[in-house]
Amino acid sequence: MKVIGLLSVLMVFSTTVECAKILGVFHLAGKSHYMACSTLMKILAEKGHDVTVVAPLKEKNPPKNYRQIYLDGLSKKLEDFMIKMNMFEFEPSPYVRPFFFHFMSTEFIEDVFNHTTFKEFMKTGEKFDAVIVEEFQAEAIKYVAHHFNAPLIVYSAQDANDWTNAFQGNPDTPSYHPNFFLNDLQNHMSFLQRVENSFFYLYGKIMTHLINFPAHNRLVHKYFPNAPDLADIAYNVSLVLLNSDPSVHEPIPKVPSMKDIGGFHIRKPKPLPQDLQTILDNAKHGVVYFSLGSNVKSKDMPKETRDFILRKFSKLKETIIWKFEDPDLPGKPDNVIIRSWLPQNDIFAHKNVKLFISHGGLFSTMEAVYHGLPVMAISVFAEQKLNGKRAESNGFARHIAFKELTEDNFGEILDDLLKDSKYRENAKMRSQIMRDKPMEPADAVNYWVEYVIRHKGAPHLRVAALDLEWYQYLLVDVVLFILTVILVAVFSIRFLLKVVLKKKPTSEKKKN
Ligand SMILES: *[C@@H]1O[C@H](CO)[C@@H](O)[C@H](O)[C@H]1NC(C)=O
Repeated sequence: MKVIGLLSVLMVFSTTVECAKILGVFHLAGKSHYMACSTLMKILAEKGHDVTVVAPLKEKNPPKNYRQIYLDGLSKKLEDFMIKMNMFEFEPSPYVRPFFFHFMSTEFIEDVFNHTTFKEFMKTGEKFDAVIVEEFQAEAIKYVAHHFNAPLIVYSAQDANDWTNAFQGNPDTPSYHPNFFLNDLQNHMSFLQRVENSFFYLYGKIMTHLINFPAHNRLVHKYFPNAPDLADIAYNVSLVLLNSDPSVHEPIPKVPSMKDIGGFHIRKPKPLPQDLQTILDNAKHGVVYFSLGSNVKSKDMPKETRDFILRKFSKLKETIIWKFEDPDLPGKPDNVIIRSWLPQNDIFAHKNVKLFISHGGLFSTMEAVYHGLPVMAISVFAEQKLNGKRAESNGFARHIAFKELTEDNFGEILDDLLKDSKYRENAKMRSQIMRDKPMEPADAVNYWVEYVIRHKGAPHLRVAALDLEWYQYLLVDVVLFILTVILVAVFSIRFLLKVVLKKKPTSEKKKN
């Protein structure tokens, strides 16, 4: 009996994926996007898989099983572009944003397809068990999975939205879920806001089908003439890993092939460098941590804003640790410590940290929530405003757009967040929500990737909505049919009544 028991245990284990070959192709050269993607791949490498990462950025000290295929030159191009744009000034209208993302996405993918290193890699004929790409209105990049004949897994830095919904047959819910380009809206909307939101969903669909998707289809066929129609590839996604979590996002429906893995990037805190450890230990009035993330540079902030921020800081008893990219900051008071790089997550784990002044980026917000820290969200661009407003309505943050920041409101918000304990309590509550799950997000990443490999692309998760035409999915044909039946019935009854009523007088005459 014992032997049989042992054998069956062994058999169960033999169906797990021991060491899969997993390819990640990440076309976005932005640092925050890359960092999340490389973390995802590192998780898989740590679980013992053989990982290959094709990307425009690279790790200095890659872990074991982590091979890098570095596309040089592409991140420099993005950096120059960001400097030219000046992120503090740049905020296109929501109606322009889809075009902006369209051009960004096609340009970045073309740069990858055209890169000599990438071309050589595509010719190797290697075998992979799964291919992971990042969704960023980036359908063309999905071709790589087809090329290597492996199941396609999509990672998205956001919650489910138009970029992922359409390809999974996931319902769009414009009545209560704001389109992520409309970052003034929240999930409870007035009538006019719902009109605007619905219109924007439609606008997005039209943009995608008339402009974006055809352009990506052309792009694939330009570099890979033998590729099938892009629709056959783009709608063939086995799994979507979403950087979302109920502690920071509103609940929305998700089909079974979409999984929340929000918080996967938060690793166990490491010991701090000695100098930082001392600063944090000695800050007896607490620490305010200030960082605008990796894309927005504090050093490029207008001087006037910087000056009033420093004036306010000089009046606080707290120690301020500021991620500031220049070696010196003129007029810096003694309680302000600057560093060009800081181990944010490790700092957050220190008990003396009281508040996080942030740009409202999703990864940063999640780290703050994980550690139960209140947030002052100064949104600069993209979906930061949406994140900031969400955090505010979840009660652990106050939001202000960078453009609206003044000496007065900066001081008022900062004092409020430091003095009112409700922000801290709400942050702690959100932290408990984030930590309450059946499986660590990093384990979930590994579990679902292995699941897809085990079940050969897991076609059983695919919803039948993907096989319907849009008018069938929206029941337009059924509604038209029912209306027709009702109309035919109404007209037939009317016609019959007319006939009967016309006959009536004659029959009455006869009676008389
Ligand atoms: C769709 O995905 C399945 C499972 O990964 C794969 O076998 C099939 O070849 C894919 N189809 C195309 C057109 O890439």
